[in-house]
Amino acid sequence: MDLKNYIADVPDFPEKGIVFRDISPLMADGEAYRFATSEIVKYAQDKGVEMIVGPEARGFIVGCPVAYEMGIGFAPARKKGKLPRETIEVTYGLEYGKDTLQIHQDSIKPGQKVLVCDDLLATGGTIAATIELIEKLGGIVVGTAFLVELKDLNGREKIKGYDILALMEY
Ligand code: PRP
Ligand code: ADE
Repeated sequence: MDLKNYIADVPDFPEKGIVFRDISPLMADGEAYRFATSEIVKYAQDKGVEMIVGPEARGFIVGCPVAYEMGIGFAPARKKGKLPRETIEVTYGLEYGKDTLQIHQDSIKPGQKVLVCDDLLATGGTIAATIELIEKLGGIVVGTAFLVELKDLNGREKIKGYDILALMEY
């Protein structure tokens, strides 16, 4: 299945000069969404993943069905101020702007094998911050999975040494 048929390219969103790669047509198509999920599930099974983490908000869309399908847990990494219990946090830069991610202190068990899922790898700021959170809690990041990788932004450089699955490249 050619998943690129389900990505909408939106020029100048959210700022002039950015081409926004919108995954919502993919999610709106049951077959495409299931296909993308199953590709990530296969990757996760090969790596013996025990827990999924996804950064807010689109990381939830990708990571939750993977966790559900595998019968394992999902922990959200959320934008600052959203999680109600004790958290740790990391601040990071984005293709447009800056943000802080937090995760619940008790969401990962030390030694647990974790897969980080997100919709898109751009500069790598979000994924690097998410990895840092997981590792602070003692988790082992065995892989990262994305629907889309924007090659020009070199996000891979920021997570050198970590394995990456990207279902589409631009
Ligand atoms: C987007 C996207 C990734 C991140 C990729 O999230 O969903 O998480 O940016 O960019 P990076 O590789 O440069 O970090 P955004 O922060 O816009 O939040 P959203 O998912 O809530 O829309
Ligand atoms: N997140 C960061 N850059 C993005 C882009 N170009 N399209 C969609 N989501 C993004």
